[in-house]
Formats: sequence, C-alpha cells, structure tokens
Amino acid sequence: MKTITLIQGDGIGPEIINSAVKIIDAAKVNIDWDLQTAGAGVIEKEGSPLPARVLESVRKNGVALKSPVTTPIGKGFRSVNVTLRKELDLYANLRPCCNIPSVKTRFDNVDIVVVRENTEDLYAGVEKMIDNNTAHSIKIITRKASERIAKFAFEYAVKNNRKQVSAVTKANICKLSDGLFLESARKIAAEYPQVQFKEILVDNCCMQLVQNPSQFDVLLLPNLYGDIVSDLTAGLIGGLGVAQGANIGENCAVFEPVHGSAPDIAGQDKANPTAIILSAVEMLNYIGEKEKGQMIKNALFETFKQGIFTVDLGGGVSCSEFTDKIIKNLQE
Ligand code: NAI
Repeated sequence: MKTITLIQGDGIGPEIINSAVKIIDAAKVNIDWDLQTAGAGVIEKEGSPLPARVLESVRKNGVALKSPVTTPIGKGFRSVNVTLRKELDLYANLRPCCNIPSVKTRFDNVDIVVVRENTEDLYAGVEKMIDNNTAHSIKIITRKASERIAKFAFEYAVKNNRKQVSAVTKANICKLSDGLFLESARKIAAEYPQVQFKEILVDNCCMQLVQNPSQFDVLLLPNLYGDIVSDLTAGLIGGLGVAQGANIGENCAVFEPVHGSAPDIAGQDKANPTAIILSAVEMLNYIGEKEKGQMIKNALFETFKQGIFTVDLGGGVSCSEFTDKIIKNLQE
C-alpha cells in the first residue's frame, strides 16, 4: 500500500479533495492517505499556514495530492504554495490543457502543455520599500533553474511524443533576466534536434492563444508568465474548474489543480472537482496506477457525456452530486 500525503487546504479545498478521495477509494486504489491540514484554518493553533509537519510528510511519502490554499493579499505569511514549491524544490509546474470531451468551448483542438518554472522569478519574494512611495521587487532568473526547466520541457516533449517547444518570454524588455531564460532554452533546445524549438514574446503569445491555440504544443515559461498564461489556457478548455496541474521535483511531486481556493463559492457545494480529479489521475499515473487512473478518467468523461455538469460549466449539479455520478459510472 502506498502512503500519500493529502493536503486539504481551505476555501473550496476540503470539498473538492473529499470528492477526489471518494472517487479514488471507490476505484479501490490501495492508498493510505496521510491527511495534513494547511492554510487559514491552522494558523491560530499552529502559528503558520504551512506547519513543518506538512513538509515532513511530503518529504517522507514523496507524493502529495493538494487542494488550494488562500494567500492573503498584501500582508502576512508568505504564500503556502510558493513556500511548499521552494522548500521541496518542486521546480517544474506542469499544466496540461486539453479539450475535455462533451465540454463545449470556443475551440475543439486545444492540446497544450504549460511547463512553468516554479522556484524563482518575481516569486522569490525579494521586495522592499525604498521609501514611502517606492517599492522594489526583484526578478531572479538563474542559469541553473532555467536550464533545468528547459531540460524538463524537452524531456517531457520527447517522452510524450510532442513535436514542438515554444519558449515564452519578454526578452526584448527584460533583456538580462528573460534574456538568460531564453539563452538557456536555446542551449537545451540544441540537444533535442527532433523537437521543433520556437521563441515567442509573451504578449503576442497571449493574443495567438486566444485566436489560434492549436498552433501551440509545449509552452516553456518563467514563473510569472507561466502562472498567468496557464489561467488563459485553462479558459480555452472550459475554465479553472477543469484545469489540472502538478509540481514536480527530483524527489517528490505535489499534484494540485491550477485554480485557487475560490472563496466566492466556498462552503456552498458548488465547486467543480474535475480539476483536482484530473490532477489525481496524473498522480495515479505517477505512482504506476495507470489502469485505475484511466478508469477514473473514463467515468468522469462518461458523466460529462451524460450531460451532467457543475454550475461553472452551465449545469446544475452540486460538487457532491457530481462526485456520486462519477462513482456510479465507475461501478457500472
Ligand atoms: P480562484 O482560482 O480561486 O478563483 C477564480 C474564479 O474561478 C472564481 O470565480 C472561482 O469561483 C472560480 N473557480 C475556481 N476554481 C473553481 C472550481 N473548482 N469550480 C468552480 N469555479 C471555480 O482565484 P482567486 O479568486 O484569484 O484566488 C483565491 C485564493 O486562492 C487567493 O488567496 C489565491 O492566492 C489562492 N490561490 C491558491 C492557489 C493554490 O493553492 N495552488 C492557486 C491560485 C490561487
């Protein structure tokens, strides 16, 4: 039996993670969940939204399924997500974005994988007030992290039969920082002649994505552009409710949806659990439970095929009703 850390988060976190666990348990995958709470709910008792026990658990188990955690704007603790990714050196944020059968969107040929550098850039948190009216935030880009994420993107492309990697930067303006990221991508690209390498500026990339997304395959981006562009690509396939993700390092991996804690719908049983279910399917693939992962994916897609949708996709079922339908399809 495999022990997996379950990071419950806050906002809609508990609702969607319960859905994923119920489905995985119904598929009879042999998992021993090591439940670890994090986020707003534990600050008062433990003095931090990310107590050391959570990191220890992921280090020990090597794999985690995580639901979102709120990061208050402007003050207080450093983001739980940024800290987790940095502490565990989860350097690659992998966000596949592919049309889901029966989910209607503007385009029906989207199959993009966003590979986002996950440890530096403006997320390094090096900020200070120079005087009362001036704030400085330092963008950190290193050759080591840039080459490492480029290597990850090309390796992913080769292993998954992808044809093209596009490096997305603003190297015309951030000449040194994005320039270094691009230079690193070019260097690694030369080691993979079988994969087409393209370069595109992030603003043009956004415009092209909303007009003609099928021209893109793997997108390789520094942290901040990756964060923003992956919300855009989520929008192409039905929104944040269906966008899966994973944070991958040398020694551990944390699977989580792209979306946040959605405080506007928290506690209302309205959230779409699809994004975390698809993230969990990737987690099952990662631990070698591919067959069970495929079963769950089939049951989820069958549910959509039956016209059953949560509110964000124009339907009327609740998160728990949607979960029960998937389990029913799993058992049929
Ligand atoms: P958000 O992703 O939580 O929500 C944006 C919009 O999408 C909202 O209207 C929300 O209702 C909707 N939405 C998101 N997930 C949904 C789902 N599964 N089903 C149906 N609708 C869904 O982004 P927002 O509001 O900017 O951030 C809220 C909090 O989440 C912030 O504190 C932010 O820092 C945090 N956050 C955490 C992340 C993580 O833990 N990995 C990632 C992104 C944001």
